[in-house]
Amino acid sequence: MMNNVQQLQTPAMVIDRAVVQRNIHHLAEYAKKVGLKIRPHTKTHKSRQVAAMQLEADAIGLAVAKVGEAAIMSAVCDDLLLAYPPVDAARATQLAALADGRAVRSAIDSTQALEVAAAAARSAQTTIGLLVDLDVGLGRTGVQSPGEALALARAIDSTVGVQLDGILVYPGHVWDPADQQRPALTAVAALLEETLDLWRRDGLEAKIVSGGSTPTAYQSHWVPQYTEIRPGTYVYNDMNTVHGGYCELKDCAARIVCTVMSDAVPGQVVIDAGSKTLTSDRCISAPESGHGYVAEYPEAKITHLSEEHGQVDVTACDRKPAIGERLTVVPNHICPCVNLQDTVWWLRPDQPLEPMAIDARGKIT
Ligand SMILES: Cc1ncc(COP(=O)(O)O)c(C=O)c1O
Repeated sequence: MMNNVQQLQTPAMVIDRAVVQRNIHHLAEYAKKVGLKIRPHTKTHKSRQVAAMQLEADAIGLAVAKVGEAAIMSAVCDDLLLAYPPVDAARATQLAALADGRAVRSAIDSTQALEVAAAAARSAQTTIGLLVDLDVGLGRTGVQSPGEALALARAIDSTVGVQLDGILVYPGHVWDPADQQRPALTAVAALLEETLDLWRRDGLEAKIVSGGSTPTAYQSHWVPQYTEIRPGTYVYNDMNTVHGGYCELKDCAARIVCTVMSDAVPGQVVIDAGSKTLTSDRCISAPESGHGYVAEYPEAKITHLSEEHGQVDVTACDRKPAIGERLTVVPNHICPCVNLQDTVWWLRPDQPLEPMAIDARGKIT
């Protein structure tokens, strides 16, 4: 067990447990107040321990991106939603196996995915719940209109092995400041209402309408059709959520501790965290802000990353960090950073750092 942050081998990810608890409870309180269920997306933490903390705080189940994550999370949860279409037999077979004794659902946007999922469920003698993925503006996946959603819902409803459970949307295009999201979320609500109306007139029911994201999390009540929300990033936060105005720096639970390993170039120091730690992701709403926020030197800017080097411009700082000094960086996008760690470290007041394995690290199939 590690005694303190100064003894850590760097770069290392340290996670403040009190901040995680606060983020989880804050969202749980909001959801309770507005009558929404929470199904956190585990792609951010990829950890059974953190998932268990979310479930203890009244999450009704978990969302995952891939079947490998679902398999890991099935040890702590019996209500899983794959927010990703299982279009190949291998994926669908694994998913069907998980449905034995659990509620297992998936979002799909094609009849191909429907056929593959249904065939896997039938041969495992189980049932997979399906949600129609409706594109509400991101333009990534999802059927393109209420009419297409109805056609796919009808196909699901008449297929053996699967069950029509509802609609999934992901408003990942909404990065406006929170108080300016009303028009975008009203448009999501209108599209959902039109779709639900078509389904109702056809005798089809959507008992689940799953939506949500971290930027829109606390405005979810502006989409009254939602029954549940699936934010993921909120549990740790990152510079994307800080720059978007959705949280403050004090709400960023996960940070990279690194070491200054060179100061040879004037006006610059180099840290031992490069793109293999921080990833190359820029901030969505502040792409010019560099590759993360250096907590001890707010005027510093991480200007360039190579795989294991981070070049930090310190010309605006009062003093230059010394070789060997520990710096703490809040990453731009925490989710892929977590996936680069085998182990992260829990930080608790007056206690030794405690390691936590990233259970679903690398589970990308
Ligand atoms: C389908 C889906 N649902 C939910 C989420 C969670 O959103 P956020 O990262 O804003 O918390 C994501 C994030 O990528 C997603 O792709």
